[in-house]
Amino acid sequence: MEQPIGAAELYGGRGIRIVAGEGATVRDDEGREYVDFLCGHGAALFGHAHPDLQKALVEASLAPWTIGMGLDSPARRSLLSLLGNLLEGGEAFLCNSGAEAVEAALKLILLLRPGRRRILAARRAFHGRTLGALALTFNPHYRKPWKESLLPVQFFGVDELAEAVDDETAAVFIEPVQGEGGVFPLKKETGQALSEACRRHDALLVADEIQTGWGRCGSLLASPLVGLDPDVVTLAKGLAGGLPSGAVIWKGHHGGFPAMSHGSTYGGNPLVSAVALRGHEVIERDRLLERSVKVGSYLRSGVLGLGHRAVTEVRGLGLLIGIEVRGRSAPVVRSCQERGLLALPAGPQVVRLLPPFTASEADCDRALGLLGEALDEGLR
Ligand SMILES: Cc1ncc(COP(=O)(O)O)c(C=O)c1O
Repeated sequence: MEQPIGAAELYGGRGIRIVAGEGATVRDDEGREYVDFLCGHGAALFGHAHPDLQKALVEASLAPWTIGMGLDSPARRSLLSLLGNLLEGGEAFLCNSGAEAVEAALKLILLLRPGRRRILAARRAFHGRTLGALALTFNPHYRKPWKESLLPVQFFGVDELAEAVDDETAAVFIEPVQGEGGVFPLKKETGQALSEACRRHDALLVADEIQTGWGRCGSLLASPLVGLDPDVVTLAKGLAGGLPSGAVIWKGHHGGFPAMSHGSTYGGNPLVSAVALRGHEVIERDRLLERSVKVGSYLRSGVLGLGHRAVTEVRGLGLLIGIEVRGRSAPVVRSCQERGLLALPAGPQVVRLLPPFTASEADCDRALGLLGEALDEGLR
């Protein structure tokens, strides 16, 4: 009988075991310290062991953790209203992960545009790995084994998407910055043209802000920064500082989910909602949106300042940074880790950094030094 596949095989295990961490630092079981600019694939947006989030978690743990969707909770209600306020007349649905948010968005657009079955997405897009989300994900490597079972989605280059929208189009899914696909921020003109095309044809524009949202790019939603005026937004990752969480927000004038047409056992549970709310208070109190712009540009110019001939381009928005390298990114990421910096690839030639809000100048300087050494090794 075939052995079941373990997490290490499934994710390409990195060979280290993390046992502690705070801020932008984690430690392994041998006492080695790493600058963590991987941050749980962007979910640990506030860094590790943030004292305010810890406090919120402890306080919320003393009350019921999960109560089910039918029973009201002040924390969930406040979070729904906070999220709803991000879009004009906005409404929100809470769930537990990015893929689940994308699935809910898919159901929503099919409900709101019955009879229109054309769904568009971008080449290089990543929207998740469950069957609905996978249908919107471009990478053939992820799709191949399930390709017969996927909802039909048409892919276009980001610059061709606006042209492709027509009266048969139910929705267009787009990331404000393509993350997994190589860290490509949408050009503002492209975002505006796409928003305009969707408006003209009454198609729904869905911004997948699972990686870009909740302040990572310097604004709670990155969409306005790149000219997008979405009808629907998906969020997850850093929304509750790394606790499983996800959300779909939509402009309420379009309609919504009829009673019993969607749900989630854990979605919007009081525990996670309380932590998400505290995170938002911290964003406001500590002016973390400004900080994300500042730290992001410090890092981007720091990478350029290395003047390294292995670097061909540095892209990104706020704390979502892509460094295009000559040759392959995987050996550079590996070499970063050996030296004490956790980064991640974004496609074959891009090294991605996802630092937390709390990354200090010293963390950034250390990361830049280690990256420089890893790039030297990559060239040898
Ligand atoms: C833009 C985008 N959409 C969707 C997802 C899927 O989120 P999850 O892994 O929480 O299902 C991701 C995860 O990396 C993402 O970056």
